Amino acid sequence: MSIISIKNVTKNFKKNPLLENINLDIDKGKIYGIIGPNGSGKSVLFKMICGFLFPDKGDILIHGEKIGKKERFPDNFGVIIERPGYIANKTGFQNLKELSLIRGTIEDRQISKTMKLVGLDPNSSQKVKNFSLGMKQKLAICQAIMEEQQVLILDEPFNALDIDSVKRIRELLLKFKDEGRTILLTSHNQEDINICDIVYRINGYQLEQA
Ligand SMILES: Nc1ncnc2c1ncn2[C@@H]1O[C@H](COP(=O)(O)OP(=O)(O)OP(=O)(O)O)[C@@H](O)[C@H]1O
Ligand SMILES: [Mg+2]
Repeated sequence: MSIISIKNVTKNFKKNPLLENINLDIDKGKIYGIIGPNGSGKSVLFKMICGFLFPDKGDILIHGEKIGKKERFPDNFGVIIERPGYIANKTGFQNLKELSLIRGTIEDRQISKTMKLVGLDPNSSQKVKNFSLGMKQKLAICQAIMEEQQVLILDEPFNALDIDSVKRIRELLLKFKDEGRTILLTSHNQEDINICDIVYRINGYQLEQA
């Protein structure tokens, strides 16, 4: 069974068509890329997969179960969609700690380890309000992966990262794939797309294999 199934999904905003009757199956252990111009609906598609927005028509199934306003979102998904809200006056570690308390499944050690993995210093006393764009992006990556989430929905995960960090995160995602995790990402950069097993382009309100 597919991890995520998008079935005949249509989404419009005020009668402006965005996605028309699209279908997509996401299977375990692969990296999927979604490309398309600005405003073509990539982020909207990801928001629908995460249940932040709903299709006008069609269904989205997660592990075979329809998601809707009433259903709970599966908790093994790690998500980056736009910039998450952080507590400005706390450090990176403190922010991740607060987030980790929601699920209560990881220890401080795991938070520190993940921060180091993406190139953040867990012991830094710098508050998030003083973080650079790239540092905030790394924090976003941390929250999406620190609990070993098995499905990663990453909207432009490489945004604002320097060259070495991009390389590091690409390698990390490939390692996750080898571990059997499933990744769906968007990017405007061809080199990021090269790590994907399957790439779809949004074109003319449709999803076509690139
Ligand atoms: N909540 C909303 N209400 C109305 N229109 C919206 C809403 N969210 C997105 N849109 C519109 O839907 C279209 C697609 O937006 P989306 O953010 O999915 O584009 P994108 O493909 O992610 O672009 P980018 O490459 O710039 O990130 C845009 O025209 C946007 O203005
Ligand atoms: Mg977008």
